[in-house]
Amino acid sequence: MHRLFVAIRPPEHVRDLLIDAMDDSPDFRWQDDEQLHVTLRFIGEVDRPVADDLADAFGRIRAERFRLRIAGAGRFEQRSSGALWAGVEPKAPVAALAAKIERVCQQVGLEPERRAFHPHITLARWKGRRSREVADFLERRRDLSSPPFDVTEFILFESRLSRHGAHYEEVASYALV
Ligand code: 2AM
Repeated sequence: MHRLFVAIRPPEHVRDLLIDAMDDSPDFRWQDDEQLHVTLRFIGEVDRPVADDLADAFGRIRAERFRLRIAGAGRFEQRSSGALWAGVEPKAPVAALAAKIERVCQQVGLEPERRAFHPHITLARWKGRRSREVADFLERRRDLSSPPFDVTEFILFESRLSRHGAHYEEVASYALV
């Protein structure tokens, strides 16, 4: 089985800015450079034929290039874990691209994604309760921002999980026009 997702990779200067926004707090598991991305669609575990169908079908998507910038920081919080993230703006073009990818996923036979789409770049994860540390980070990084950058492609990634965390491998990339 292959654990897949589709994402945008920010350019190196933006990744550098995000890494600079991290700190060395041991309360959080900070993402590496290679893990920084905006997820467009989490696909999950699929077998080889479905993975191949998806990889082909994504190649037929026609979508325009657009610009994004980093804008602010936020969090997703469940009872005993959570994630800190950097926001991206504007949301409309990235949501439109995600919607095209969603349509293809359904055409290939995947179940629809029921969760709302909140484009973001995960910076760190935590386990347990970190309310105070999370609030401190968000306060310090409330003005996090980058210059606009061009989004010229989207990428199909395979996620390999190990004891050392998730490792993301590029399977295919698709140019925007
Ligand atoms: P996250 O950064 O918000 O956790 C690879 O796992 C990527 O897919 C991550 O960026 C992750 O988003 C995203 N993703 C979305 N839904 C997921 C799920 N149910 N399980 C794992 N990852 C998911």
